[in-house]
Amino acid sequence: TRRQFLLGGAVAGVGAAAAIGADKALRQPDPVVTPAPPHGTGTVPFHGVHQAGIATPAQAHATFLGLDLRDDVDRDALRRLMRIVSDDAARLTRGEPALADSEPELAVSPARLTVTFAFGPRFVARASGVAPGWLRPLPEFTIDRLLPELSDGDLLVQVAADDPLTVAHATRMLLKDTRSFTTVRWVQQGFRRAYGTERPGTTMRNLFGQVDGTVNPEPGTTDFDQVVWSTDGWLAGGTSVVLRRIAMHLDTWDELDRSGREQSVGRYLSNGAPLTGSREHDEPDFEATTSLGFPVIAEFSHVRRARGDDPTQRIFRRAYSYDDAPTGAEVSDSGLIFVSFQADVDRQFTPLQQRLADLDLLNEWTTPVGSSVFAVPPGCAEGGFVGETLLT
Ligand code: HEM
Repeated sequence: TRRQFLLGGAVAGVGAAAAIGADKALRQPDPVVTPAPPHGTGTVPFHGVHQAGIATPAQAHATFLGLDLRDDVDRDALRRLMRIVSDDAARLTRGEPALADSEPELAVSPARLTVTFAFGPRFVARASGVAPGWLRPLPEFTIDRLLPELSDGDLLVQVAADDPLTVAHATRMLLKDTRSFTTVRWVQQGFRRAYGTERPGTTMRNLFGQVDGTVNPEPGTTDFDQVVWSTDGWLAGGTSVVLRRIAMHLDTWDELDRSGREQSVGRYLSNGAPLTGSREHDEPDFEATTSLGFPVIAEFSHVRRARGDDPTQRIFRRAYSYDDAPTGAEVSDSGLIFVSFQADVDRQFTPLQQRLADLDLLNEWTTPVGSSVFAVPPGCAEGGFVGETLLT
């Protein structure tokens, strides 16, 4: 039939094309494909005016170690400790094994590893240094349900990289070298999207599904420098870090409808745009009202309360999610490792946190369970060590 004829012709045609293709392939050399180097080779310099791991675009994984100093650790010992761990960090972040590395093969993929050190009040006291006035636990907020075993500490080590094995290895090397000086008070592990899952620069989402981190000072700008870097004494070029572990109650959040969720923050879940706009970075219009005369971005919404009127009360947020194993009848034990950097805790962070503690609908589904404040010393040059401005 005509149909069979057409089909046969078509099949014959395909065969001919395939033959020509095969012939061409024989005559043409393979195109030279240079594969991109694997992302694991990426490095972030350890040495510099500021410590790495603050202005660094947030890596996918982070472990935060809250360490306590042993009783016999004096100023000289602190200096030894910081020399050793600075040396470890400098090597590991270059993709080289630490001295006496027990698993040197694990050091070869730094995956943008950064190691950031910060000092608690007792560390500065043992160093006989002048502590900034804000270096103490935050005032108690009514929303807090803090557990001492998840709060405070003498030395914070933030280990962050795009690969969890790199983080685990670096953390272990650092802990092996700190253990004669410190004991572990707490460890918190956090994550974001894996590297490569989204375009670089995409704002993270937290476990409520919200776009979280839209309004944040931008590294590399004078605004960022002013918000973050201290100019005082041994802390010049350093900053402060507030780390709060905030449980997010996903089970009760589940009971809230989409519009309720969006109103609690004042932004859309789809793309993080303010309820008065359509794109993520649109400026919220806090004056806009509904036809009934209510503000579109509610008085109780997180973004309205977090914004405030005073532009000096700003912080740089660099948070991670945590998702621990639920127990018993729980479905989840999840939340946010809220991490913020600011030059002065009392001036920038505390009034903002107080405002949120006074009123923020998001408090219905969140509970701070851990809290600590540390002074982040500046970075160091090659051959130097982090903390040298305090310890020499
Ligand atoms: C903004 C979530 C805790 C300070 C936001 C936004 C979300 C969010 C979704 C809007 C997008 C953005 O600009 O990032 C959360 C969740 C929290 C939490 C789920 C707890 C689990 C905190 C805390 C603080 C804070 C403890 C400070 C004390 C801010 C600031 C903004 C913000 C300053 C930007 C406000 C502006 O538009 O100017 N947060 N947040 N947040 N949050 Fe939070």
